Amino acid sequence: MPITYDESKKIWVLETNDTAYSFGIHQSGKIKHCYWGKKISRFDDYPDLKSYRENPWWDWNDEIPVRGGANQTEPCLQVVYADGVRDVTLNYQDYHIQDNLLSIHFTDEYYRLSLTSFYKVHESYDLMERSIQLENHSDLPITIVNFKSASFYLPASDVYTLTHLTGMWAHETRLTKEPITEGKKILESRVGRTSHFHNPFFAVDEKATEDHGNVWFGQLAWSGNWKIALNKKPYEQIQISLGLNEWDFEYSLQPSASLTSPVVLSGFSSNGFGEMSSRLHRFQIEQILPKSNAHQLRKVLYNSWEATAFNVNEENQKALADKAAEIGVEIFVVDDGWFGERSSDRSGLGDWHVNAQKFPRGLKPLIDYCKTKGMDFGLWIEPEMVNPDSQLYSQHPEWVLHFPNRPRTTGRNQLMLNLAREDVKAFVLDTVDHLLSENDIRFIKWDMNRPVFEAGWPEEANQQKMWFDYIENLYTIWDTLKTKHHDVIFESCAGGGGRVDIGMMRYADQFWTSDNTDPYDRQFIQEGFSLCYNPKVMMCWVTDWGGKNSYPMTYRFHAAMMGSMGIGADLAGYSKEDLQTAKELINQYKQIRNTVQNGRLYRLMSPSQTSFSINQYLSPDSTESVLICLKNPMPLSMFQVLRIKLKGLEEKSLYHISQTDQIFSGSFLMNHGLDLDFRQELDVKAKDANHFKSQLLIIKKK
Ligand code: GLA
Repeated sequence: MPITYDESKKIWVLETNDTAYSFGIHQSGKIKHCYWGKKISRFDDYPDLKSYRENPWWDWNDEIPVRGGANQTEPCLQVVYADGVRDVTLNYQDYHIQDNLLSIHFTDEYYRLSLTSFYKVHESYDLMERSIQLENHSDLPITIVNFKSASFYLPASDVYTLTHLTGMWAHETRLTKEPITEGKKILESRVGRTSHFHNPFFAVDEKATEDHGNVWFGQLAWSGNWKIALNKKPYEQIQISLGLNEWDFEYSLQPSASLTSPVVLSGFSSNGFGEMSSRLHRFQIEQILPKSNAHQLRKVLYNSWEATAFNVNEENQKALADKAAEIGVEIFVVDDGWFGERSSDRSGLGDWHVNAQKFPRGLKPLIDYCKTKGMDFGLWIEPEMVNPDSQLYSQHPEWVLHFPNRPRTTGRNQLMLNLAREDVKAFVLDTVDHLLSENDIRFIKWDMNRPVFEAGWPEEANQQKMWFDYIENLYTIWDTLKTKHHDVIFESCAGGGGRVDIGMMRYADQFWTSDNTDPYDRQFIQEGFSLCYNPKVMMCWVTDWGGKNSYPMTYRFHAAMMGSMGIGADLAGYSKEDLQTAKELINQYKQIRNTVQNGRLYRLMSPSQTSFSINQYLSPDSTESVLICLKNPMPLSMFQVLRIKLKGLEEKSLYHISQTDQIFSGSFLMNHGLDLDFRQELDVKAKDANHFKSQLLIIKKK
């Protein structure tokens, strides 16, 4: 049983194979945190709260802290009752255990508001999901102004480091580390999407490395405004709260209505960041990704955006499709520009009919053409948006987020439809459903290119619920579409990687990681991404960013092989030899992709810390390892041979290195290490070939 209530100690203990989380009932009646970390081998040793001294004027460590009483921590709940009272007093009622789900019930002492805190324990993944549900049993609305999903605590200490992912457009998910000092550290999104600036993920470690040390971590399943607060005060346990962002938020909970918070996925690793990532990656594939495609291999796609931009037509797309098919591409995707009066980003968004000048016979001839070439067909859409210069906007100016008496400020020349409105929700759902029902489309890239501002909804009394309802409606739309069109692969894109999170991952099969596809820059973005998202969902394209000849061709491809590979280069500019090389490298990727996409990732060398970026992927059956090694410019130009220790092999088994035809024991490869010789000229054509080099090794168990 993963969940136990110990009556004598009045504590709940939630155990996974390797970890434990515990809280209990204090003599004051309050529910307080007890323990989070490695599973304790003797159950009787789990601590209780008998010696915990509570001050009436200083309340800390509450499992569900609220605005009320003497609480000093970041609250999970702030409400305003109908009579103006803003103080919540939560009384514990009872608990319920059903298999791996624990529910703890509370009610307000006076007002008829109930709160249930859920804990879902995933024993074999060493992970736990938490969320909170509120129910209004009174006859009057209750206004919720702050609603978080969970609060965690770690023992007071000065040695913690916070790891999180920061960035901006074209530089998303950059690994950031900093000591946790006294005060508060806020990570958040206020832009109506997950955001490029921060990702809803945290890891706190005690001097941990990839393989050693304690790491506590969590990620939020939410694609709108969110907030993570780390709160440190002298001698107190460090608090970490996660959930919806209270900024500009107000939700009127009507009588008999309920509201459930986004889920937080959390865990603990005593073996460093590598184990943390591996647990999250496995859980995402097996439990979060849409079931229809979770275990399928991601196909190699070609996207014509960088080749033809808005200037798409049947002819030039067919010409690119010829080249794409020739090099082994499996899905051909037409990006922006195929619809409405869309000749630039100034017009057409919202008018989702095929542009008759560009495709006089509709999309069918191109789709059929791709099919005869053995490729699926895919399409770009951005259905949450509208250009002021469009038919849709002239028909429904009231559909966009806006305030009266204020400008409607555009971003990338577009306004945002208010998806919280039921009519807009129906329009978006019908539009995409229609597109997928009428055409043989097997892939959708769903974009969202601007943040929210001027977030007004003049017709609605409770305007600020928009922040919540927008995202819930987005999820419902994706869920409906995924259920009806389960053979269509959906990619979530938001001006690059602006909407990457595990909330979206329940419906999206993959993510557009970043618009930046420069193979050097990408290593940093991909390293951060891989910390908490599976390589399978990380789309990596080979393009001409950074200059086609600035990097060796193999280097560009190898950088893109670190996740699910696509091609975005302008193939019209590729010589016969280039196309042949591309074909060979795509073929090589197809041989290794099961291991990359479904295997276990070991980050052997970090581009942020060294001049190398080296990943090892171990296949699900542990018989094959793929080693992708990128060497970047380094000051020690004399140094060219690197010894690298592999991981996860069997000591006594023998392994064959395909590229060098050598055989070594697992013991040798893991303890002595493999020498990677970077002296060979891999691509002499590229002017910087001496600086940027790469190798790919396939290591098979004999
Ligand atoms: C965004 C995406 C790009 C491309 C363009 C099209 O910027 O991130 O990949 O689809 O929109 O307008």
